[in-house]
Amino acid sequence: MLDCALKTDKLNLYYGAFHGLKDVDFCVYRNAITSLIGPSGCGKSTLLRCFNRMNDLIDDVAVQGTILVNDEPLAGIDIIELRKKIGMVFQRPNPFPFTVRENLVYGLKVHGYNKRRYDEILERCLKAVGLWEDIKDKLNTPAMSLSEEMKQRLCVARVLTVEPEIILLDEPCSALDPIATLKIEELMIELKRNYTILIVTHNMQQAARVSDYTGFMLLGDLIEFGETSKIFTSPADERTDGYITGRFG
Ligand SMILES: Nc1ncnc2c1ncn2[C@@H]1O[C@H](COP(=O)(O)OP(=O)(O)O)[C@@H](O)[C@H]1O
Ligand SMILES: [Mg+2]
Repeated sequence: MLDCALKTDKLNLYYGAFHGLKDVDFCVYRNAITSLIGPSGCGKSTLLRCFNRMNDLIDDVAVQGTILVNDEPLAGIDIIELRKKIGMVFQRPNPFPFTVRENLVYGLKVHGYNKRRYDEILERCLKAVGLWEDIKDKLNTPAMSLSEEMKQRLCVARVLTVEPEIILLDEPCSALDPIATLKIEELMIELKRNYTILIVTHNMQQAARVSDYTGFMLLGDLIEFGETSKIFTSPADERTDGYITGRFG
C-alpha cells in the first residue's frame, strides 16, 4: 500500500461566494512526484496553497473538509512547523535581495539552528541543487545577480536548508527557458529520492516527463487522478482526454 504524505477528503474552498475547490479528494504519495494540471484558473494553485496554509493570508477564504499531513490534521500543526515540513517554490524565482549566503541561512535563523552547522548545511543544500561548484566562491554576492535558473535553484536550496519532507512547486519553470527548464526537471527527479514533491504545471509535457502521478483539475474539481502514464494514454474521463489532446485549455 502506498501511503499519502498529503491527503484531502471532501476539501472545499470558497473565495467569498466563489466556490474555488469542490469536494476534492486527493493524495500526494510519499517520495514520488505528483503533478497538478488543468487550464488556467481551475484551482491548481489554490489546492497547492491549502497544504501550507498560504490561503490563510487571503481575506474572505473559507475552507471545509479535511487536510492530512502524514495522517495528522493540518489544522492542528503549528504554522512555523508546517512551513518547515512543507517548503514552497514559486513561479518566479524570488530570492531575498541579500547575498546567496544570507538567503540560505535565513530559515536556519528562524528555526534556531546552531550557527556552527550553517556551513555544512549550506554546502549540502547547494550540492543537492547542483549549484555548489558554480557558487561556492560567490556566497557573498547578491542573489539577484544570478541567472534566472540559478535563482530558482537557489530558491529550492533555500527550502531544503530546514529539512522539509514535502516540496510544493507552483509552475517553477514558467519563467525559465527550455534548457533551464530541463535542468530543473532533472533536479526534481533527483530530489524525489529524499522528498515528496507536488508540482503545478501548465506544461503537459513537463507533467508527463517528471511526474509519477497526475491530477487533472477543471473549474475547481479534481476530475481525475492516477498514474501519469495512465492519465496521458488512457484517461478515464472524456474531459481529461479533451484537455490532454489539446481540444481545450
Ligand atoms: N485571492 C483570490 N480571491 C478571489 N478569487 C481567487 C483568488 N485567487 C484565485 N481566485 C480564483 O480562483 C480560481 C482558481 O485560481 P487558481 O487556483 O489561481 O487557478 P490556477 O492556479 O489553476 O490557474 C480562479 O477563478 C481565480 O480567479
Ligand atoms: Mg496557478
